[in-house]
Parts: sequence; C-alpha cells; structure tokens
Amino acid sequence: MANKILVLHGPNLDLLGTREPEVYGRLTLARINRMLQVEAKRKKFRLEIKQSNHEGVLVDLIGKAGKAGFRGILINPAAYTHTSVALRDAVAACGLKVVEVHLSNIYSREEFRHKSLISPVASGTVLGFGAKSYTLGLAALIDLLAEVSILK
Ligand code: DQA
Repeated sequence: MANKILVLHGPNLDLLGTREPEVYGRLTLARINRMLQVEAKRKKFRLEIKQSNHEGVLVDLIGKAGKAGFRGILINPAAYTHTSVALRDAVAACGLKVVEVHLSNIYSREEFRHKSLISPVASGTVLGFGAKSYTLGLAALIDLLAEVSILK
C-alpha cells in the first residue's frame, strides 16, 4: 500500500500568519505545509494537504480517505474540535490512524476550548507547541503506521 497521508486543516487556519499571531504564531499555512512536506519526504511518505472552512467538506474528505488510498490522517480540526459530532463520527468510522494536532494549548485557553470531541476517537493528540505540533504529530503518525506495517 502506498505511503500516503492526508493532512487536513480546519476553519480559519488559512489565515495563519496574520490570525492572532500571539496565539498561533507568525508562520503561514503555506510555510507549515512546506515543513510537513520536507519531513514526509525524508521518511518516504507522500502528503496530500487540504484546508477547508466547511464541516461537510472535511467530513467528506475523511470518509473517502480509506478508499483514496490514504493510510493515516493528520488533522487540526480547529474550531470544529469543540463542536462537531459529525467530524468525530467521521474519524471514528474511517478505520485509519488519525492524529489530532493544535498549535495552541487548548486547555490553557477559554473554557469552551477545553473539550475536544475528536481526542477520544483519535490515536493521539499533540498540542501547544505551535507549528511544531504539526511536525511532532506527523512523526508520531508515521511511527504508528510503521508499527502497523511491522505487525501485519
Ligand atoms: C486550534 C485551537 C482551536 O480552539 C481554534 O478554534 C483554532 C485553532 C489550534 O490549532 O490551536 O482554530 O485548533
């Protein structure tokens, strides 16, 4: 099976770089994506990267990921983390390894951000390290996928 990972960025992450830089840092999404591509290539994985502000689009992408040949998903569900039962159900149903990431530490912020509907159905979550959460999350996902291959 091809070593393909789907990277999903949720709502408003297209604004990174100018969006509340004191919370999310100054790196643009394009820059983060380039970092991820370099890391993936080094480990012989291919990434397809998508950003959407629309819940249904993200649900569709997760739902079709298995058939499209992806082995795992790295996702920052952004605000949908805290609200979307649909996204949670899509993650639970997709049958792939899913790693959730957040730039900020959602537990040190407003109370409404303290609950993630995604974490209970994800393989793991990396948060609070800024853009590094993504590269750490990708490394963890690739490790998980390597373990799965060894056990097969
Ligand atoms: C976020 C945290 C969410 O609470 C917020 O709605 C985001 C970004 C993060 O990466 O820190 O849009 O997922």
